[in-house]
Amino acid sequence: MTEAIARIERHANIAVLLINAPPVNALGQAVRAELQATVELLHKDAGLDALVIACEGRTFFAGADIREFDRPPQAPLLPGLINAIEASSKPVIAAIHGTALGGGLEVALGCHLRIAAQSAKMGLPEVKLGLLPGAGGTQRLPRLVGLKKALDMMVSGEPIGAAEAQELGLVDRVVEDQGLIDAAIALARDAVAGRISPRKTRDRALQAPEAGFFAAYRKDNARKFGRLDAPQAIVKVVERSLSASFDDATAFERAQFDILRSSAQSKALRYAFFAERDVKNVPGIDVKTPVVPVENIGIIGAGTMGTGIAVNFLLAGLPVTLLEMNEAALTRGAETIRKIIQRNVESGRTSRTSADQALGLLHPTLAFNDLASADLVIEAAFETLDVKQDIFTRLDAIAKPGAILATNTSYLDVDKIASFTARPEHVLGLHFFSPANVMKLLEVVRGAKTSGPVLATALKLAARIGKIPVVSGVCYGFIGNRMLAARRVALDKSVLEGASPYAIDRVAEEFGFAMGPFRVSDLAGLDLGWSKETSTGATMKERLCEMDRRGQKTKAGYYDYDDKMKPSASPLVEQTIKDLAAARGIPQRAWIDAELLDLLLTPMIAEGRKILAEGIALRASDIDVVWLHGYGWPRWRGGPMYYGEKHPV
Ligand code: 3HC
Repeated sequence: MTEAIARIERHANIAVLLINAPPVNALGQAVRAELQATVELLHKDAGLDALVIACEGRTFFAGADIREFDRPPQAPLLPGLINAIEASSKPVIAAIHGTALGGGLEVALGCHLRIAAQSAKMGLPEVKLGLLPGAGGTQRLPRLVGLKKALDMMVSGEPIGAAEAQELGLVDRVVEDQGLIDAAIALARDAVAGRISPRKTRDRALQAPEAGFFAAYRKDNARKFGRLDAPQAIVKVVERSLSASFDDATAFERAQFDILRSSAQSKALRYAFFAERDVKNVPGIDVKTPVVPVENIGIIGAGTMGTGIAVNFLLAGLPVTLLEMNEAALTRGAETIRKIIQRNVESGRTSRTSADQALGLLHPTLAFNDLASADLVIEAAFETLDVKQDIFTRLDAIAKPGAILATNTSYLDVDKIASFTARPEHVLGLHFFSPANVMKLLEVVRGAKTSGPVLATALKLAARIGKIPVVSGVCYGFIGNRMLAARRVALDKSVLEGASPYAIDRVAEEFGFAMGPFRVSDLAGLDLGWSKETSTGATMKERLCEMDRRGQKTKAGYYDYDDKMKPSASPLVEQTIKDLAAARGIPQRAWIDAELLDLLLTPMIAEGRKILAEGIALRASDIDVVWLHGYGWPRWRGGPMYYGEKHPV
């Protein structure tokens, strides 16, 4: 037995198998082999009456080893192993801490009893990887928690806590975190002594649902499932459990799992999983890089961005000093923050107590000097270089030594902004996406002089506020907006050449974006950066603004909007496009959908490749993470760079 991965402790007639396969005790081949060997030992060793399966480190098994899914399966396979555990005539007890996920929970479901630490979480998140639970989970979970709850857990992939798991009958006992192993041994003794009956999950009755249950379930969830294969397959496999034997149903489950495993959707979703984790690997930064302690935040500007940014830090328990230029703007900003947090409470995302604590950490101020004690100041003010110069010059004069000075600029030159200070090594860009309290993406813009510790601090802080940080070099628009701008240029040109904005949006939405680019423009407002005084009517955007069609806010933009903001194509806009094309001597032609898709994707993929070649992004998958979390790229399509690799043009 490999010492590093597993050890067995004997407590008289009870064996405790402790798996230690960092970081998350994934059920790779070596771990499965240890489990198999231990089950055989339990069977053969007359001195043993029960087995406790537990893990060391931060968690119980967090699932199958996802990296193995790209290779041919290697024995022992998980479904057979779990069947062997369940078939044992001696009781096997799962002792769960951390996160028992996927195959990890399936191992526990195959055990005869389950005990959990009170902080443990349990779930079947395979759907998030485009998979279904493929080791008996679709058949065993419904037998413990009921069909509806099991389906909900599997199609959402969301875990539940230990208390709820106990209420549902998923675990038999919940104990304090510290005493888990001792309590598991005690449970094993109870089982051996007949004080509690160990039961095989497969032998439990499956409650038959009402007639029409599955059809109704599919209908109710149709929108949520969208074009994803995995949730559909989950429902199909669970439905099979009502008409097939346990063994036939699990064989069907495995066959469906194998189909999904080699599907394009699952491959893309698995790629996205690892891409999100790769972003933290930044050359020159490692665990030894010192970080600057950050315990209080200053934010300059209480507009949409400043307030959204503030909410992140407040909810993470960090005090925020919020600066504005006049009382009215400051009061408005503080009120916006209060409303956002209140909405979080109403939706159940934040408890009342945490909300009160968060609001108690907000210090609105009109005094610039109040930023002097902040460890990190984020500027989210007006987007001109003059404004930034004024702010960073003043900040440099008052900020304490070592403070990090960040700008939330979307387009401006971070190196130039850093040069307004005498400490450019402490300056970087923290580009949040709107709404900043919701969007997970944070572009961390590393200036030419930004120091390693400052960058490392930003990455660590991002994790603290639940963001996914992607490091970008300095260029116009950084990673995401630069690609967006390239796409916009191509779209605007093609619209004048006859490509209909409505057809473009339809093709984008059919591809999987929640909204096409013209609907997004209408939502954001067409007058961003536009002014009546300087407007020349040379572009569609200018013409629309001149017609007071500024987007949803004027109930007219590229689209006409009714009172419920339902969009419809505008004949006036179509005519305006024709007129502008004629005025500029641009001939119009018909476009087919394949060309429109090409138009939507090729320019941005090409720009992404330039961004990579210039070293602005560290790796192609970082660019994909930006698009997944900042711009609504359909996750099951991996990301633009991934898509470009799979569909070379
Ligand atoms: N397989 C392989 N590697 C895994 C893994 C898994 N199941 N789960 C996590 N890892 C790796 C990550 O890639 C990361 O590696 P890195 O440090 O080299 O980047 C490392 O473990 C730590 O992961 P996180 O950074 O995500 O750590 P967190 O503490 O933030 O989160 C977690 C831990 C909640 C367990 C999270 O990693 C997670 O959700 N993992 C995936 C769980 C999952 O999807 N399980 C189901 C797998 S499919 C399955 O079981 C099929 C079965 O039905 C047959």
